[in-house]
Amino acid sequence: MRWSEAMRVRYERDAKACDRIDILALESSCDETAAAVIRDGRIVLSSVVASQISSHQRFGGVVPEVASRAHVEQVTVVIEQALADAQLTLGDVHAIAVTRGPGLIGALFVGVTAAKTLAQASGLPLIGVHHLAGHLYAAALSQDAEPPLLALVVSGGHTELLYVSAQGTIEQLGKTRDDAAGEAYDKVARALGLGYPGGPAIQDAAAGGDPAFIRFPRALLEEDSLDFSFSGLKSAVMLHLDRERKAGRSIRVADVAASFQSAVTDVLEKKALLALVRTGQQTLLLAGGVAANAHLRARLQTACDDAGARLIVPELRFCTDNAAMIGAAAYVRYKQGKLDDLTLTAQASLPIDQW
Ligand code: KG4
Ligand code: ZN
Repeated sequence: MRWSEAMRVRYERDAKACDRIDILALESSCDETAAAVIRDGRIVLSSVVASQISSHQRFGGVVPEVASRAHVEQVTVVIEQALADAQLTLGDVHAIAVTRGPGLIGALFVGVTAAKTLAQASGLPLIGVHHLAGHLYAAALSQDAEPPLLALVVSGGHTELLYVSAQGTIEQLGKTRDDAAGEAYDKVARALGLGYPGGPAIQDAAAGGDPAFIRFPRALLEEDSLDFSFSGLKSAVMLHLDRERKAGRSIRVADVAASFQSAVTDVLEKKALLALVRTGQQTLLLAGGVAANAHLRARLQTACDDAGARLIVPELRFCTDNAAMIGAAAYVRYKQGKLDDLTLTAQASLPIDQW
């Protein structure tokens, strides 16, 4: 029997007979090599994340070639660890899931190739997952996050407003026209000498700063559009730093960080509220690495309370890239019988409606 037929037989049998489904999930789209075992889409049996931060820190950002090499070194290590932590073997799980895109192509290939190899060797079903769908389903690991809902996904590569009308049905309502919010955090942090990754560094620096020190631009706020733009904000910060340095004045790092963070948060909050009104939704899900930002979480909580809406945020450890969220999203596909075969390939760009 060909692998794809054997896999389908295995799926039909397990989906009917098993009272729990355990998925081994892999994530390698950027600078974290991660593996996790997730039961029934919400119970985290294990979640292992090998961070490459120290390898990229001296370059001030993610270097794709360095990321690919580190994934090759770490991928089997994290898989073994995730199975050991879950006290399972490959023979015990019911499917293999992997991020298939979007992301750094070389980095994605490492995870996709590992997942295909495991699936073929074990005869297990294979499920390719959209990275942003993973971020969306991170919240389901700790609470009820049933659609319909509106989602704001803010990460290093994406800033998008998504409408999730039903399990697995996702429509993009707006997106950034240039830089992602996390990318702006990283670039501004680098310019301020705060290092990589920039988000947590700016959050810490901003804690003692004055958010009203400079009024940086808030792009596209007057427009009716649900799109974002952060490159003008980033340039405004650079311009300020240039001016101050040329004038021989010292940089007020905490005040600049707080003013920048306040501008980003204002835009994210206003657009999310506009989208809630526009779609008539009562639930806002915040996801992606920038969802770890305490200022953004607090501001959105207040805004949602005032608007009579419910805010859902993932646990902090599942905001930034991890494989548990990929396992949670894969379970939705598993239940719907949406399996992949060995033609699965990595894709650097991948529209969310094709997740
Ligand atoms: O989702 P993620 O781990 O990777 C991508 O899919 O891009 O997001 C990483 C991004 C980085 O830009 C990082 O600076 C940002 O999330 N980030 C934060 C915080 N923690 C991570 N941004 C603001 N505040 C944070 N606490
Ligand atoms: Zn991500």
